[in-house]
Amino acid sequence: MRKPFLAGNWKMNLDRKGSLALAKSLREKCGSRTDREVGVCPPFVYLDEVVRALAGSKLRVGAQNCSDEIEGAFTGEVSARMLKDVGVSFVIVGHSERRHLYGESDELANRKVRQALVAGLDVILCVGELLAERDQGITERVVARQLTQGLKGVDEPDLARITIAYEPVWAIGTGRTATPEQAGEVHNYLRGVLAGLYTDATAAEVRIQYGGSVKPDNIASLMAASNVDGALVGGASLKLDSFLSIVEYK
Ligand code: PGA
Repeated sequence: MRKPFLAGNWKMNLDRKGSLALAKSLREKCGSRTDREVGVCPPFVYLDEVVRALAGSKLRVGAQNCSDEIEGAFTGEVSARMLKDVGVSFVIVGHSERRHLYGESDELANRKVRQALVAGLDVILCVGELLAERDQGITERVVARQLTQGLKGVDEPDLARITIAYEPVWAIGTGRTATPEQAGEVHNYLRGVLAGLYTDATAAEVRIQYGGSVKPDNIASLMAASNVDGALVGGASLKLDSFLSIVEYK
């Protein structure tokens, strides 16, 4: 059974006070839920405090990015080991904003995935096509490449620590969501790619989140789609009420 995993990606939003207030309210409202996994991904500088605010609850804290290096002269970078050290439990790798605004390649995403696993962090590996790629009919080719390259060198037992997030780039922050059918098609396809890379049984255990304009009013229909096991939520994770409605979808 794949337990639904709902994660809020705060991106470069909220301040210290707002981050802590949101974390504490979430703790109060859904901090002991065990039928669903719930996580938040604050900006780096607030991770330490948010981890402490949520300690002892079931809520998980993730980072939005990590370095592909272990340590050393890499100005401005934060290593997976440092994240682990402050109590972070997972990291988002290969988000489309990293790929398309900061030029991150599949190869870089793969190095980050491997560093995260070595450091003991779980990973949300993001894949997703641009609108032009969907229009050209190459969505499957693009996500298969991102998935295959992103998981290079990841051994079968470690797959249990990886969640895939399918985030069509044209749906992120645009208010334009993929229909449940569109999401389901790609999720089915991704599970097939995983089965090809590993085994059917291992692929069946991996959670595949959908991301891209997930809101309280579309979460239930997306979660009902084939092979959708959770959501990676941006804008709607910044307010208590909307994120809570998403977490509590029926
Ligand atoms: P959005 O962002 O929910 O604001 O579209 C999703 C994401 O980028 O993970």
